[in-house]
Amino acid sequence: MNKKNTPETPSNYDRLLIDAITDYAIYMLDPEGRVSNWNTGAQRFKGYKPEEIIGQNFSRFYTPEDQAAGLPQRFLEISARTGSFEGEGWRVRKDGSRFWAHVVIDPIRDQTGKLVGFAKITRDLTERRQAEEKLRQSQEQFRLLVQGVTDYAIYMLDPEGRVTNWNPGAERIKGYKPEEIIGAHFSKFYRPEDRQNNEPQKSLDTAITQGKFEKEGWRVRKDGTHFWAHVVIDAIRDETGKLIGFAKITRDITEKMKTQQALDQTREALFHSQKTEAIGRLTGGIAHDFNNLLMVIIGSLRLLQRRVPNDPKISTLVDNALQGAERGTVLIQRMLAFARRQDLKQEVINLPILVQGMTNLLGHTLGSAVSIATKFPPQLPSVIADANQLESALLNLVVNARDAMPDGGKITISAQQVTVTQPGPVKPGTYVCLVVSDSGEGMDEDTLRRATEPFFTTKGVGKGTGLGLSMVQGLAEQFGGQFVLKSQKGKGTTAELWLPTGGPQQMHTPAKSTSPELIQSAPLTILVVDDDALVLQNVTNMLEELGHTVVPANAAIKAYDILCARDDINLVITDQVMPRITGLQLGEMIQAKWANLPVIIATGYAEISEATQLRFTRLAKPFTQEDLRKAISQSIMAKT
Ligand SMILES: Nc1ncnc2c1ncn2[C@@H]1O[C@H](COP(=O)(O)OP(=O)(O)OP(=O)(O)O)[C@@H](O)[C@H]1O
Ligand SMILES: [Mg+2]
Repeated sequence: MNKKNTPETPSNYDRLLIDAITDYAIYMLDPEGRVSNWNTGAQRFKGYKPEEIIGQNFSRFYTPEDQAAGLPQRFLEISARTGSFEGEGWRVRKDGSRFWAHVVIDPIRDQTGKLVGFAKITRDLTERRQAEEKLRQSQEQFRLLVQGVTDYAIYMLDPEGRVTNWNPGAERIKGYKPEEIIGAHFSKFYRPEDRQNNEPQKSLDTAITQGKFEKEGWRVRKDGTHFWAHVVIDAIRDETGKLIGFAKITRDITEKMKTQQALDQTREALFHSQKTEAIGRLTGGIAHDFNNLLMVIIGSLRLLQRRVPNDPKISTLVDNALQGAERGTVLIQRMLAFARRQDLKQEVINLPILVQGMTNLLGHTLGSAVSIATKFPPQLPSVIADANQLESALLNLVVNARDAMPDGGKITISAQQVTVTQPGPVKPGTYVCLVVSDSGEGMDEDTLRRATEPFFTTKGVGKGTGLGLSMVQGLAEQFGGQFVLKSQKGKGTTAELWLPTGGPQQMHTPAKSTSPELIQSAPLTILVVDDDALVLQNVTNMLEELGHTVVPANAAIKAYDILCARDDINLVITDQVMPRITGLQLGEMIQAKWANLPVIIATGYAEISEATQLRFTRLAKPFTQEDLRKAISQSIMAKT
């Protein structure tokens, strides 16, 4: 409208055009500001018909305040002086309502340059203004909302990843004040290794290509500490689709993660202990029954070995059967050890000596490709354990190491003293940590986690029982120590067996100076008590072969009746686990009445305490004829 207008009345064509315009009020004023014509648009949004308004001063369209301030007249002056006036403001309709108007006033001059009036174009911007106001309000609300959030870091990045704003949540979580961080690149919040992997840019790229990026990971605070963050990045684009930046929302979920982890661990531990417990009970039960059966088999085979005529064909068969049965015994011992049901001796053991004693055995087991080295400090305290069991634990660790080094390698057995001050997996105290390490293939995470599980083996059916490490762990825990396995795939394995130190030295020395082996007992009359007919028969056979006379009884109460009825019994051998009255109870009944009658209790269980051990002779199942002979000598000696 900056074109010079002419005073001529518009042509018909122009008139039609102007009247057709309904979105703009287009009208003219005379030099004093009186309305001289009026189009349809003007009528539509100011509400006056042409006849009502033509000749009236245009100041009536202004609010009383603006009129009082002389604005209408001033605008005309500006227009006349500068060639145009343009502005926005409130105007008043005929019905008194207001609307927000955009106004242009152009002066109209004749050829001589004399002012003949004004052309006025007004547009109703109320809707646009309302929309703008709404937008402003919502932006303000949004700003307040974002600024009010302290649990989430909410901020924006420019397309290059520089921080452009920062809310209090971001300040609280990350530790930077807005002025310290705005303008900095957001990769600052990543750990150096993540930056090296280009994680920051990768996450922006994902947001660009997929619209959104969401992930959890470690982030770094201003003070350098780490937190576990849940991060969402959204790409922001303008209407044309051009990327104008990113919205980033970060939440500190370290606590949540830790709680979850603790929960998972507890659940895992509980599950593991329940599983082990269940398998332990099952294994213990089976092993106990099997123990009895093996005793029968071995006992009978031994007798057979001596009774059959000297025929090599038969004796080889018997030898084979015996060997098989003896291997079964080793397996059973392991099962009992893992099930913590085994009858353990508490011996004071000097580890270097024990290992020294095994050198031969280990050498045979390992073959020439594997070398073995031992490293013991000069001042190593002794440990409390069962020497036989400890040997078999050590043997298993060494065999495991050998199996992990099919192409040969080196095994190191070492030990060191460790003092524990804080209660943890083991009680505070001093321990000796016996270490078997190898340079073998190691274990992946999954194998390592499962290695001590009973029956877990990677060695294939018939090659490994998977009970080796379970047994080692059972042994360590039964003595109040622990078993720790460390390994990485391809980097070898270290197995640590922690055992408590010390203990009274006299446990090592036999109670009597004469060795029981030297005493050959005279023929005795022995009462044998066992609820298992097979076992009873087997023990009877062994005893008779040793020259003794046997009186059998299949229950404690029957044994007691026999004792009351006869006075020629020299010794009682009873099984511990029997229905109703146990071997131990029977032993106590006998002691009460016949204090000098020796009693031997045969048991495969670890449940008989030290105190009882002093009063009765114990015989660990399964036992050989030789074990039986020794136990008899020992019990007779104890009563003399
Ligand atoms: N030193 C080691 N290096 C690599 N893997 C090992 C080592 N020790 C144990 N393992 C892994 O742990 C599993 C369980 O060992 P564990 O001694 O309990 O049973 P096993 O050796 O398989 O069977 P068994 O002891 O009856 O011969 C092994 O099968 C093997 O996968
Ligand atoms: Mg093994």
